[in-house]
Amino acid sequence: MSEKKTGLRQGLTNYGDEGFSLFLRKAFIKGAGYTDDALSRPIVAIANTGSAYNPCHGNAPQLIEAVKRGVMLAGGLPVEFPTISIAESFSHPTSMFLRNLMSMDTEEMIRAQPMDAVVLIGGCDKTVPAQLMGAAAAGVPAIQLVTGAMLTGSHRGERVGACTDCRRFWASFRGDQIDEAEIEAVNNQLVATVGTCSVMGTASTMACIAEALGIMLPGGASAPAVTADRIRIAERTGAQAVAMIGKDLSPAAILTPKAIENALRVLLAIGGSTNGIIHLTAIAGRLGIRIDLARLDQMARETPVLVDLKPSGQHYMEDLHRAGGLTTVMREIKGLLHLDALTVTGRTLGEELDAAPASFPQDVVRPFDRPIFPQGGIAVLRGNLAPGGAIIKQSAASATLMEHEGRAVVFEDAEDLARRIDDPELDVEAHDILVLKRIGPVGAPGMPEAGYIPIPRKLGRLGVKDMVRISDGRMSGTASGTVVLHVTPEAAIGGPLAIVQTGDRIRLSVAERSIELAISDEEIAARLAVLPARQVDPDERGYRKLFLTTITQADEGCDFDFLQATRITATVPGDGNKV
Ligand code: FES
Repeated sequence: MSEKKTGLRQGLTNYGDEGFSLFLRKAFIKGAGYTDDALSRPIVAIANTGSAYNPCHGNAPQLIEAVKRGVMLAGGLPVEFPTISIAESFSHPTSMFLRNLMSMDTEEMIRAQPMDAVVLIGGCDKTVPAQLMGAAAAGVPAIQLVTGAMLTGSHRGERVGACTDCRRFWASFRGDQIDEAEIEAVNNQLVATVGTCSVMGTASTMACIAEALGIMLPGGASAPAVTADRIRIAERTGAQAVAMIGKDLSPAAILTPKAIENALRVLLAIGGSTNGIIHLTAIAGRLGIRIDLARLDQMARETPVLVDLKPSGQHYMEDLHRAGGLTTVMREIKGLLHLDALTVTGRTLGEELDAAPASFPQDVVRPFDRPIFPQGGIAVLRGNLAPGGAIIKQSAASATLMEHEGRAVVFEDAEDLARRIDDPELDVEAHDILVLKRIGPVGAPGMPEAGYIPIPRKLGRLGVKDMVRISDGRMSGTASGTVVLHVTPEAAIGGPLAIVQTGDRIRLSVAERSIELAISDEEIAARLAVLPARQVDPDERGYRKLFLTTITQADEGCDFDFLQATRITATVPGDGNKV
């Protein structure tokens, strides 16, 4: 058996003469001033996602410097390389449209370039999933570092942070409760520093998921972006990447079914973003692990929400860090975790939890028997409206709307919504159900976070704060409300959502986990039969064509079908787990 090549010797460019390929590679990199000693060291690559278009990664230069320091202190050679960076509010049509492209970039650049391990620096919502999807498929030892959360700001003495408060203030502005001067003033305070959103939105959720998966240093999820703790974690991440080399700590060894289950438990216990399920499904799918939504719902019934962070609670990520970070959470749900799951340190999750500093009194992470919500934050719904499933973040929904029947007020797509939602003539009342079609993976395309349908202005002015809203799209993890999301199959590919008409009655029962269109099966079949067949516009080209022709539905993680593992080898939560 040939010896595995390391350092600069691996992945040589093919000129038909390996010796010449290495000779040429060394000649070129020596042009950058490297010595033979440096070039003989194990290589730790650093995926740099710094971008002036991505303020959530605004501290990337300092993190890279610290990672490099850690790598060199441990005897390795750090080599940074750029990949695509995706910022939530700077990506058209939506950042989700680009997640798979970033995962392909990450995977292929890890494959193409010589490296013995890789540090992935991500942060903003889609970047961490994209990096983990790519790294899982590439197979090189990988360790995740996140940029960390932003600090909170202050508006008229009130603590504020992106982006739960962004939505709250904007709703007040739309409802004429605050004026233009105040909305401008608060705009200056919502994002007080660089870093990711300060609540338990998708970025914080994915940071916690990465730590729970064991592919991040223990304690690595919560330190804010602009703190010394964050820089120290970066330095230690660099050193750990060197320590991983030569050991069986590949992504496949870490991202096992047990690790995926641990991540699902943590997602539920932190009241994490609904997007976390889609991303975790996509990451697992790269390794042939399928997430079963029905079993996930069962797991959710037994996992309380313990973390008192917005949007489910009241605190911010910096508070979770002060409360001991994710370690405090995982200690509380220790009995539900697979403690023998391996982490990037080479030790198990259980060993890491035992070795972490002792717990102390705090009020951000509740004890297991005194949760902020008795069940997991997310419930999986099914019914004739969503045969493939739908999701509701029950911990951030209104208790009074969780059992609700109402008249559908339908918007055919995002343009229709924009045109009519604030029309004073819109026939809508507070107990109606707002339905938005064609914002799914194919429909928009890219499944934008438009599922948080705004309350019609005329109802907002009357003080209506929440209504049942249903769509095949996503919702920002920072948003709250009684919002049914990820309706599968989506309207654009002929799912039952496509046939809902204004005036139909819809029944939502979170207790029964059901979402039903109250019309007969015959009527449903008749309406489905006359839907036009789905066609991709022959003039589509490039990445958009690839996207439209290969994107999977939400229950498969919205990955491209050809990027998923070719075989399913495990389903989680599994029969033998602790559910
Ligand atoms: Fe980047 Fe929220 S917009 S993390």
